Amino acid sequence: MNPPAKPRKRQHRAYLLGVCLGLLGLTLLFLPGSEPFHVRGPMNTGHENLKCAACHREAPGSLRQQIQANMRFIFGQRDRPADFSHLRVGNENCLHCHERPNDRHPVYRFLEPRFLKARQNLSPDRCISCHAEHNGRRVSLAKIDYCQECHKKTRLRHDPLDVPHDKLIVLKRWDSCLGCHDFHGNHIRQTPKTVDQIIPSKKIHAYFEGGLSPYGDERRFKAEIDADLALGQQMGVSGTPSVFINGVIIKPGFVPSFEEISAAVEAQINQ
Ligand code: HEC
Ligand code: HEC
Ligand code: HEC
Ligand code: HEC
Ligand code: HEC
Repeated sequence: MNPPAKPRKRQHRAYLLGVCLGLLGLTLLFLPGSEPFHVRGPMNTGHENLKCAACHREAPGSLRQQIQANMRFIFGQRDRPADFSHLRVGNENCLHCHERPNDRHPVYRFLEPRFLKARQNLSPDRCISCHAEHNGRRVSLAKIDYCQECHKKTRLRHDPLDVPHDKLIVLKRWDSCLGCHDFHGNHIRQTPKTVDQIIPSKKIHAYFEGGLSPYGDERRFKAEIDADLALGQQMGVSGTPSVFINGVIIKPGFVPSFEEISAAVEAQINQ
């Protein structure tokens, strides 16, 4: 006689069930004739003509392989879950077209331990913290005073300003910084030296929203368009991938991550 199934095993079976149900949902919805990949909102400034595949790459392997890899993970034969369907959009996607060797604030720098607190408050190590896509604007982070996360101790030995930096900082004029400096240092221009030349916040916000640059038109680097990415076919984005767990759809219109599937399965088990 078999001993009764251990709770751990039962949990595995429940996961298995969930994943199988998910697979069923996926196969049904990947059949030809399904709706197109849902668009999330207007593209950001300058991205109007980019193809989805410029940022949304298919996760490696076929859907079947991805599911198999995740099964192996569930049963402890793999140490990491595999991405489902599409990879997450990361800095490397952006840098593929926007690589700029002398960015004043390169994202990788902010992985240093001394920026831990800034990372918690702002996540400056990721492009999409400030440029969330599908928002129809240039800069999605509306705040302009976040320079204080890192520049509280900024002092210039020979400060050229009529109101020097340390004074601006004591006065908490954090709204003034972007009034003289752009963020990435990509605009070719003379930095103003007097406070009456500070660009009003209203103009900066209009620029964030997609308007003209208050820092002028001349820039060191423009985006490099890789013909493949700009004109590439929209691979893997022709179905409406949906995953069902016990009949509940998770993340309508998009393939959820493995963590999300696991969480949904857990929720169903615990019901
Ligand atoms: C410039 C890069 C870029 C392009 C081009 C782009 N997207 Fe996105 N998209 C993103 C980012 C960033 C996210 C946020 C989620 C993430 O990090 O994966 C996102 C999220 C999404 C989501 C929601 C995913 C989720 O996990 O909630 C959908 C759906 C989507 N995009 C569809 C599209 C479609 C359709 C197109 C083509 C018309 C497209 N995207 C083009 C960058 C892009
Ligand atoms: C396939 C190439 C490509 C990818 C990938 C891409 N971009 Fe762009 N991006 C462009 C082009 C082309 C423009 C418009 C021309 C320009 O401004 O250089 C643009 C414009 C922009 C602008 C506005 C620039 C301006 O004119 O003020 C921002 C901000 C931006 N991209 C951020 C991002 C971020 C963040 C990502 C990653 C989520 C990303 N881009 C991914 C090609 C790309
Ligand atoms: C902490 C916020 C923040 C992060 C992180 C960030 N940006 Fe920006 N970005 C801004 C702000 C603010 C502006 C507008 C001021 C300016 O033009 O520099 C801007 C402007 C831009 C522009 C248009 C002006 C130009 O420099 O050509 C591009 C393109 C751009 N960002 C791309 C990126 C990419 C790519 C990444 C990731 C590698 C990134 N940004 C990360 C805040 C950020
Ligand atoms: C996450 C931390 C962080 C944030 C947020 C930040 N900076 Fe910086 N900034 C730095 C670091 C690091 C340097 C490099 C200088 C150094 O090593 O001390 C720098 C350098 C600069 C420089 C000098 C660049 C050069 O030519 O050498 C300027 C100007 C500047 N920042 C302005 C700003 C402005 C304006 C803001 C707000 C919009 C801002 N910074 C937000 C970390 C940050
Ligand atoms: C009235 C214009 C103006 C304002 C406002 C201003 N700056 Fe500056 N800043 C300058 C000028 C000019 C320089 C000298 C270097 C240059 O020409 O870029 C400078 C230099 C810097 C440097 C480089 C320091 C170095 O060691 O080389 C940093 C960092 C900086 N500013 C950060 C800030 C921050 C943070 C704020 C907001 C509190 C701010 N600035 C406000 C004009 C301004």
